[in-house]
Amino acid sequence: MLPSVQTEVPGPVSRAWVDRLAARECPGITARRARRAAAIGAADTDPIVWAESEGENVWDVDGNRFVDLCAGFGVASIGHRHPRVVAAGQAQLAHLPHAMGDAFPDPRRIELMERLCALTGQDRVIFGSSGSDAVEAAFKTAVLATGRARILTFDGGYHGLAAAPLAAIGYHVQAFQHPFKALLGTFADRAPYGGALPDLTPYAAVLVEPLQGRGGMRAPPVGWLQGLSDAARRAGCVVIHDEIYSGFGRTGTMFASQNPADPCDPPDLVCVGKALAGGFPISACLGSAAVMDAWGASTGEAIHTQTFLGNPVGCAMALAALTVVDDERLPSRAARVGADLTARLLALPGVQGVTGRGLMLGIRMDNPLAATRALLQRGWIILPCGERADALGFTPPLPIADETVDGFVQIVRELLSAPATGC
Ligand SMILES: Cc1ncc(COP(=O)(O)O)c(C=O)c1O
Repeated sequence: MLPSVQTEVPGPVSRAWVDRLAARECPGITARRARRAAAIGAADTDPIVWAESEGENVWDVDGNRFVDLCAGFGVASIGHRHPRVVAAGQAQLAHLPHAMGDAFPDPRRIELMERLCALTGQDRVIFGSSGSDAVEAAFKTAVLATGRARILTFDGGYHGLAAAPLAAIGYHVQAFQHPFKALLGTFADRAPYGGALPDLTPYAAVLVEPLQGRGGMRAPPVGWLQGLSDAARRAGCVVIHDEIYSGFGRTGTMFASQNPADPCDPPDLVCVGKALAGGFPISACLGSAAVMDAWGASTGEAIHTQTFLGNPVGCAMALAALTVVDDERLPSRAARVGADLTARLLALPGVQGVTGRGLMLGIRMDNPLAATRALLQRGWIILPCGERADALGFTPPLPIADETVDGFVQIVRELLSAPATGC
């Protein structure tokens, strides 16, 4: 449904909640942009506070309806609060909300492992709760499988902010890493995304987003991923695909690495998260037996586990979410809607380019930050992306309605032709 905004944005109820938030949350977390913006005379963009969601929409505590063009950081790929996922989660909650990870498993966890392996062609699974967890599990696996200790990643790559992935990111490196240098390992090097590769023989693994998300919704040149895979194989180095943002249909194929226009070998390890369970924090690192079996058999004290490993509610919701992706043919829908939207955006004066694929698009224009603010005022939730915030990141729920896409094109046209609105 199109937006319906009845108050100023943020409205008075949101503002009151954000005042309470600011009093209690660690100040480094939620941006209180209003204060900063007021100081420079710009629009007030304190956050709106979310109260409810459904499909492509979010309602704030002031009763305004927004369209979520971020799908909640890519989590709501099948739409917010999908009824089949909610039903699966509620049914599981009523029976077994929690099992005991490595010590005592439950059937949903086993079913989800089987389902994910069938989907990816991989053999084995390590569950986590966040994308960071999955990346960390992949690093550990690669170190065990190769006996080497270095990881290669790429400029613009974002892999999470827990200590191991943080040491390996290529996105806002200075801001994210610098304050915590003392805690971070020095095992990671970076190369240009889509560019020349160094000698890979010193590396346990190369970690790559087949289509970069936060780094700008950009794909590498055709053939580069296969070249990376060939070079890694020759060097005995493990290939890790980070499909945490791009997985489960977002780019027009089930995984970004399966783009028929740019075929590449399946990776040794693949990390997934975000949309996996349609709104429950669960992630996974999947891998071939050849690589995963380097862990050896557990001797009783698991050397990798978590309290919530493979939580049954998350697994039940993920099983339902994967069925929705199939039943609603969301990858092909993302491909069709994304291609059509790209053509329409490129025809707008002021759109300098559109990168990415499917419904993982970067819309390049002057001052995307101002556009973000102006769009929020009108009921459209969208964030900038790219190292210099030089694009709007368009990653909506994949079932986004055609009329909502029409409305978005219309509002972008209006904003770009009316610089007085702040774009
Ligand atoms: C490609 C990619 N990898 C990893 C992560 C980290 O996931 P999480 O924030 O769940 O730790 C993200 C989060 O945005 C991501 O986009």
